[in-house]
Amino acid sequence: MPLPTPPGPANFVRTMLTYPKAPLAYLTNVVDTYGDVTSFRLATTRVTLLRHPHHIRRVLQQKSAVYTRDSMAYRMTRNLFGRGLATVEGGAEWRSMRRMMQPSFHYQRVASMTEHMLAVIRERLAHWDELAAGGAVIDTAQEMRGLTLRIVARALFALEEGEVVDRFAAAIDTVDHEIGEWVRFPLVPMSVPTAGHRRYHASSAIVEEIIDYVIMQHLTDQVDRGDLLSMLIMTKDEETGAGLTDEQLRDQVMIMLWAGHETSANVLTWTWYRLGMHPEIQQRVLREVDGELEGRPPALADCSKLTYTRSVLDEAMRMYPQAWLGSRRAMEDDEIGGFRVPAGTEIFFSSYHAHRHPEFWDEPEEFRPGRFTAEEVAKRDRSAYFPFGSGPHLCIGNQFALTEMLLVIASTMQRYRIELTSQEPVEPRPLLTLGADRPIRVRLVPRGRPAG
Ligand code: HEM
Repeated sequence: MPLPTPPGPANFVRTMLTYPKAPLAYLTNVVDTYGDVTSFRLATTRVTLLRHPHHIRRVLQQKSAVYTRDSMAYRMTRNLFGRGLATVEGGAEWRSMRRMMQPSFHYQRVASMTEHMLAVIRERLAHWDELAAGGAVIDTAQEMRGLTLRIVARALFALEEGEVVDRFAAAIDTVDHEIGEWVRFPLVPMSVPTAGHRRYHASSAIVEEIIDYVIMQHLTDQVDRGDLLSMLIMTKDEETGAGLTDEQLRDQVMIMLWAGHETSANVLTWTWYRLGMHPEIQQRVLREVDGELEGRPPALADCSKLTYTRSVLDEAMRMYPQAWLGSRRAMEDDEIGGFRVPAGTEIFFSSYHAHRHPEFWDEPEEFRPGRFTAEEVAKRDRSAYFPFGSGPHLCIGNQFALTEMLLVIASTMQRYRIELTSQEPVEPRPLLTLGADRPIRVRLVPRGRPAG
């Protein structure tokens, strides 16, 4: 069957005018009009768009060898971040990396990283105590980016020298911002020296310099600091016996840094927004945190007990999936939902729309943590929800991220209630990840019973 396609050249012009400016609105319009499988032209490339969870499951799981990351979007991320676990196309190179890195993310290893997480959270809470005492308002996105970056930097490569961390955080912030600007209009290559691109290159150079410094420190003293980098340096591919070269080490660190901080920061930001918009949900989180922790600081073992808080996070990741638009390329002819997919087809799959698919979700624009009770989850088709992806490329950092986010929420809620400074609705801003289209500011109201 031929694919449903928005008709004619007029539509192509409309795509080129609207997609770069408002991709989410454009895709919503396409799926509302044409349904689960559509095809449209983006510049010179014809794209097939999927939003049904079963079709996406076919691409990510059942036919993962046919659909690789040899796609436009992944080419762009390889140019920006190098060839690491989260960017290489697939095949033997990816398998070898995954084999080497998987042990670093086993439960035991993540457990040893929680000490690093908690140390960073304590430092930030001390800073927020000062802000809260002065009645200051905080910009959640900015604070969460600073927090998750520091957590990743400490847990993944033991970076904790205050001055270096601050310089690093400022440079990463600029890199994130400039990449965000570029993704909106990626037609001008980064090599063209616009003011923004110059800022990007200057900040990237600082990031690389600090990463090289950290790698050199690790290589020189050969001490296991309990961080990811120590482990990566020691690791050997069990099949080939090869270790990672210095360049591969650097690429992996870059990728982890990029994949591991903005995603968690955005999920936390959306969670604060939703807790601010729904005081009754916030109240339940406060009650759960107080009941489970009884005033002591949270630890890893508490994470599995904070079931309601976890469902709030799950619902935040349903509504605001960070890999909101995934991509692959078909390497062989295939068929999806009765439609022919010739080899070479560029596939977009929208987690954003799959997580709102009417077959699986009632009133999907409503924020309802109750969708994630054990009973509700058991009733639902497992493929309907995939905030961490699925199949062989399933997020390697998912346990790390969930632990980190639960510890941040529990530690914060023990000390403060949060109040939004505005009840105006906030919309997503779709770039590489899914942030907010304007600052979400909150007042931290001390609960008068600081813990820990
Ligand atoms: C809330 C936080 C996070 C979310 C929502 C998230 C989401 C995802 C998704 C959807 C994928 C699959 C992409 C695809 O199929 O193309 C992925 C892959 C990946 N993520 Fe995460 N991620 C998060 C946190 C992290 C953290 C903390 C790390 C590392 C410390 C990390 C490292 C990676 C890596 C390396 C991959 C590639 C895995 C592979 O291809 O084998 N992520 N992530």
